[in-house]
Amino acid sequence: MTCSILVGGGWGDEGKGKCITYLCDNDKPDIIARAGVGPNAGHSVEFNGEKYGLRLTPSGFMNKNSKLLIGAGVLVDFDVFMHEMNYLSKYNIKERTFIDYRCAIINEDHKNRDKCSEHLFKKIGSTGTGCGPANSDRVLRTIKYAKDYEKFESFQTDVPLEINTALDENEDVFIEGSQGYGLSLYYGTYPFVTSKDTTASTAAADVGVGPTRIDEVIAVFKSYITRVGEGPFPTEITQEEAENRGIEEYGTVTGRRRRIGLFDMQLAKESCMINGATQMAITCVDRLYADCERVQKYSDLSFDAKQFIEDIQSEVGVPITIISTGPDLKDTIDLRKELL
Ligand code: GTP
Ligand code: IMP
Ligand code: MG
Repeated sequence: MTCSILVGGGWGDEGKGKCITYLCDNDKPDIIARAGVGPNAGHSVEFNGEKYGLRLTPSGFMNKNSKLLIGAGVLVDFDVFMHEMNYLSKYNIKERTFIDYRCAIINEDHKNRDKCSEHLFKKIGSTGTGCGPANSDRVLRTIKYAKDYEKFESFQTDVPLEINTALDENEDVFIEGSQGYGLSLYYGTYPFVTSKDTTASTAAADVGVGPTRIDEVIAVFKSYITRVGEGPFPTEITQEEAENRGIEEYGTVTGRRRRIGLFDMQLAKESCMINGATQMAITCVDRLYADCERVQKYSDLSFDAKQFIEDIQSEVGVPITIISTGPDLKDTIDLRKELL
């Protein structure tokens, strides 16, 4: 029985979707539970030449034997949820996805308030998906829950009960966070952050699992950093430099060009400390070191890439277990199976 949480170590878009796909395909958890803010997230999942963009469905969906749950802490947009249920229908997703009856529901008013807000949309650079206004209504205790809508009836469950019972029965549970440490309402670059804490403790609370039941916390970092929206970014480089290095990027949800920066050791240390990380995953090593594209064995990485990885591990003091060398789930070095 293992209960793991995966969180973003930076400002989101670290490649959590890719790491989750690999880990869930490999470890086959009985339950995959989505924590985090809501449909402001955009996870990318690639396997067998197919590419999926997800905003609410747990990224481990391709593992057909896993039950997929969305925790009470996660905001749900009905249209986004149903779109994904239909779009992923060949994975029998409707039969095995459930949301907690206490999930708060985003409505049109929340989306309008987000997009029309000078402060949220213009100053902070929010995603415009209604998450900030919805979480604010939740704090004011005016928002409606899934249980208040008939259209959610067949998808509702008691997520904490399902997860804690599974753990009592020695099943494996995988909890997916969204966004990243730098966007945490408590520990990020306030006010340029999202509308709640994004660290592992809150991810556990989002799905109703107590801290004593968590075995592993995996913090995901990209080999360089990206940030969308406004706010401080100490290691930022110019777009021109990013293009020269071949590391420019565009957002999954908003299509916005991502700001790019170099790996930030200080941020990684802080992020691992507050998340209580027991493992780190490093993605996009191939984009920094082109000769490492799709490498699947540690010994096949270039000298420079190995040096980069080993420096991070020794400075941060947390073992690196997963190294990603391409977007497909197969492009992965699993150091749980090899010794560094
Ligand atoms: P958020 O919840 O928004 O933080 O999403 P995320 O962490 O899942 O990341 P997102 O999918 O938004 O962005 C990561 C991008 O990098 C996607 O396009 C992935 O397909 C891609 N990606 C992930 N890992 C690798 C990798 O190792 N190499 C390359 N080349 N691309 C990768
Ligand atoms: P909001 O969460 O839509 O209110 O946006 C607040 C800030 O968080 C903005 O800077 C967004 O760009 C950023 N943000 C929210 N979700 C994500 C994500 O999934 N990836 C990257 N940035 C995000
Ligand atoms: Mg993303």
